[in-house]
Amino acid sequence: MTAPVLEVAGLCAGYGSLTAVSGVSLCVAPGEVVALFGPNGAGKTSTLLATVGVLPRNAGRVHWNGVPAPKSLHTFTRAGLAFVPEQRSTISSLSVLDNLRLGRGTVELALEYFPELADHLHRPAGLLSGGQQQILMLARALAGRPRILLVDELSMGLAPLVVERLLGVVRRAAEEDGLGVLLVEQQMRRALSVADRWYLLSHGKVAAQGDAHESGGAVLEEAYLESMGITQSVA
Ligand SMILES: Nc1ncnc2c1ncn2[C@@H]1O[C@H](COP(=O)(O)OP(=O)(O)OP(=O)(O)O)[C@@H](O)[C@H]1O
Ligand SMILES: [Mg+2]
Repeated sequence: MTAPVLEVAGLCAGYGSLTAVSGVSLCVAPGEVVALFGPNGAGKTSTLLATVGVLPRNAGRVHWNGVPAPKSLHTFTRAGLAFVPEQRSTISSLSVLDNLRLGRGTVELALEYFPELADHLHRPAGLLSGGQQQILMLARALAGRPRILLVDELSMGLAPLVVERLLGVVRRAAEEDGLGVLLVEQQMRRALSVADRWYLLSHGKVAAQGDAHESGGAVLEEAYLESMGITQSVA
């Protein structure tokens, strides 16, 4: 495997006395899409937050291109990280154009990824549909030409066609630009269709991991049910 663009080892983090992430290790190679699955409360969001420096790490290390990653989101972003969090962070009173200008990249490049935004450039972002706002977020993130993209629940509440569009562009950016992607996603089948590998989190730990092409989803499904305390019995 190519040297990882992101390597997380023994990551521990939490909220006060609550441990949300407990010894999580994972890696992402350039050009690779890695999906992070797990039931509600498994620690997916916390893993992303602790990786990018929003949630303090109690233990473990995060390496980026073989060197320790910047400790704050701001410096990590300047170094080549893009983080699309669960809460959509468009500024609703600003136009689509101004939202794009707030990013690290050019408006032209954002429109290359998502030409459909061209028709909405002068509309306030708050008037866009949920799907359009998510497209705007992803366009702004990708236009900065990041080396690594971390995305939390890209597809939440969106129509299947929009989800396909978003995930398709993520896949293309990985293939064409060598972008490394760590994708938290509830829709496992959709995510598996664009992912190379996956990890399953359960109670803050990596419960299983696999190759998205090889296992096809059966291994993941079984591990997922097991992590929820549901075992499939074969009669
Ligand atoms: N701000 C917070 N304060 C206190 N506890 C939190 C906070 N955010 C998350 N937790 C707790 O940390 C644990 C991991 O939550 P996290 O949000 O990382 O899970 P998740 O896998 O992203 O879940 P979901 O699928 O619901 O988004 C849970 O027990 C959750 O209740
Ligand atoms: Mg979450």
